[in-house]
Amino acid sequence: EKGTYPHFMLKEIDEQPIVMRKIIKEYQNEDNELKLDEDIRAAMKACDRIYIIAAGTSYHAGLVGKSLIEKIAKIPVEVHVSSEFSYNMPLLSEKPLFIFISQSGETADSRTVLVKIKEMGYPALTITNVPGSTLSREADYTLHLHAGPEIAVASTKAYTAQIAVLAILAVDTAHAKGITLDFDLMQELAIVANAMDVLTAQKEELEQLTKDYLETTRNAFFIGRSLDYFVSLEGSLKLKEISYIQAEGFAGGELKHGTIALIEKGTPVIAVSTQENVNYSIRGNVQEVVARGANALIISMKGLEQDDDAFVIPTVHELLTPLATVIPLQIIAYYAALHRGADVDKPRNLAKSVTVE
Ligand code: F6R
Repeated sequence: EKGTYPHFMLKEIDEQPIVMRKIIKEYQNEDNELKLDEDIRAAMKACDRIYIIAAGTSYHAGLVGKSLIEKIAKIPVEVHVSSEFSYNMPLLSEKPLFIFISQSGETADSRTVLVKIKEMGYPALTITNVPGSTLSREADYTLHLHAGPEIAVASTKAYTAQIAVLAILAVDTAHAKGITLDFDLMQELAIVANAMDVLTAQKEELEQLTKDYLETTRNAFFIGRSLDYFVSLEGSLKLKEISYIQAEGFAGGELKHGTIALIEKGTPVIAVSTQENVNYSIRGNVQEVVARGANALIISMKGLEQDDDAFVIPTVHELLTPLATVIPLQIIAYYAALHRGADVDKPRNLAKSVTVE
């Protein structure tokens, strides 16, 4: 039930800190140690390459997951859009492990891949919000998102839950492989949950930014580098699917290779900057678009912020910033849709679970 909320989407955005804390609780044992199923650990240790298969927002979570698993657990990862993988299968490694990320667990494009790789005899892990779902039943292992039912068509809390669970999987694997880490993931996720509390309380400010930057525009661009690039893709998907503003997310460095031709006076460009190693270069990209008339809205992180930044998120661990930066982008998309009178929870032409290929 929506309770006092006008839309499920807003309720689900607000639930994200609660979901974060629930995940922290569910994935710790009585001694506060992070612990996953022994079989999942063994499968992660045994594989030589991971293939993440997903669609839409779950694919975007998979892109972040690749970075987390490669940096933390030191296993090479490929991320594939499920509908493409079925028809154009890459050359597989000797001991692949497939990870299916799906909120609903019913996405037909992903299921087609699961059926195929099971026929080939490969192991599969499904990360889903619905443990009894098709993708969960047909895989060898399941990790549960614990996000609670997600009703709005636009996925919000499932995305952050997916990233948190992927981080837990990465750290658990690192532990199993004897890799020493210089941070305590559960503590860092607790810091993220607190940051999410702060961010979800800043709706008025974000509604004003939406009015200032997106109210009458036909298009919008999202840019970032590294992890911020992946969040830009998700921010643009959120905006386009519910507000119908044509939106594109891309890597800051790619601007000059084509997209910059579209920048005109007043074009909104939302730039995300939370990574120290690219903070300088993404700001250079912002200058390039501003010089061509763009209306740039910079979302940065405390510690890396500059005077002109429109919105600054609290500091979180550098590998976990997507969990925080996506929240202002979700809220901006929500208000952009609301102000245009769009049906926020049920955007046209879309279904909550896509059970056809
Ligand atoms: C976007 C959205 C979709 C889903 C996609 C995959 O907000 O919700 O892009 O992410 O259809 O769905 P699942 O995760 O259920 O496989």
